[in-house]
Amino acid sequence: MSWLVTGGAGYIGAHVVRALVDARIDPVVLDDLSSGLESFVPADVPFVRASILDRDAVLGALRDHGVTGVIHCAGYKYAGESVKHPLHTYEQNVDGTRVLLSAMAEAEVTGLVFSSSAGVYGTPSTAVVDEQTGTFPESPYGESKLIGEWLIRDQERATAGSEAPLKATSLRYFNVVGSSYEDIWDASPHNLLPKVFDRIVAGHSPVIAGTDYDTPDGTCVRDYVHVGDLAISHVAAARALDAGVGLEKVYNLGSGAGSSVRQIMEAIVAATGTDLPIEEGPRRPGDPASIVAKGELATRDLDWEMRHTIEEMVASAWASHPKA
Ligand SMILES: NC(=O)c1ccc[n+]([C@@H]2O[C@H](COP(=O)([O-])OP(=O)(O)OC[C@H]3O[C@@H](n4cnc5c(N)ncnc54)[C@H](O)[C@@H]3O)[C@@H](O)[C@H]2O)c1
Repeated sequence: MSWLVTGGAGYIGAHVVRALVDARIDPVVLDDLSSGLESFVPADVPFVRASILDRDAVLGALRDHGVTGVIHCAGYKYAGESVKHPLHTYEQNVDGTRVLLSAMAEAEVTGLVFSSSAGVYGTPSTAVVDEQTGTFPESPYGESKLIGEWLIRDQERATAGSEAPLKATSLRYFNVVGSSYEDIWDASPHNLLPKVFDRIVAGHSPVIAGTDYDTPDGTCVRDYVHVGDLAISHVAAARALDAGVGLEKVYNLGSGAGSSVRQIMEAIVAATGTDLPIEEGPRRPGDPASIVAKGELATRDLDWEMRHTIEEMVASAWASHPKA
């Protein structure tokens, strides 16, 4: 039993690869290293350096390694940047998923776990998001993830009853933080923790953007989850699909509670030991006060659990963050 992890040299994919190894499922990585690092992939895991847009390379990887399912983490993940580069975002996230599905159909690979995003919800109308909450993405990134889900749904319908029916599920992630290994980190220049860590390393105070929101401490509330917990649920999804267990089309991997930006900043100050004071600045335009998601369906089906406190998430992210 072997599973292909696209984007397996990235922050989340590399955690998924190691969780598969721990679960005695053989991973194969396909990654073009556009943002990932080959050093994140264990030396004894087969690594194919290629783009998911290269159909022959994907087909070759599926066939050469006897792959039964794919965890599709490869993607362009920057919502803000996607507004400036919509064509690139759609190429990577929509065309890339279409090419992958086409190669999977030809190789008769039927299991698929898709890295989707909270970005599909846009600014939710309810305080706590569940899987029934309406999807109104507000960036090409969120749109491209939603289209990815639709492509997968449609291909499942089209192949139902065939000799190789696709069986898929999409996992919508919220704010993924932390690290289970000191040699894997979130290299994103746009995500909150690496950005604040880099500011502190450069001698600049962390800044809270907006302290007058309608939330318990006045700062924005977001749903932070630990990447290691997320990886465990991918393994559970892969196992279920291999065993023919029916899964929901979509799961939110959310904590149900959320943490405020002030709590995060305080955890960052504690983890880094910095003497720099936390500064307070104005709101950023377009930041909703609170986005929190329930993870009940994932808890029921995918071994989803919050195994880490916010302090542990931040401390583990700092431990792995390059300080140079
Ligand atoms: N990090 C988050 O908080 C978050 C939240 C929601 C959804 N996601 C989604 O999870 C997935 C993984 O995110 P991440 O944080 O690990 O990002 P990342 O940038 O660290 O990893 C993405 C990986 O995909 C690879 N890749 C990109 N385009 C490729 C292509 N065309 N062909 C082959 N490989 C390609 C990159 O080199 C990288 O290794 C992404 O699809 C992202 O949209 C992430």
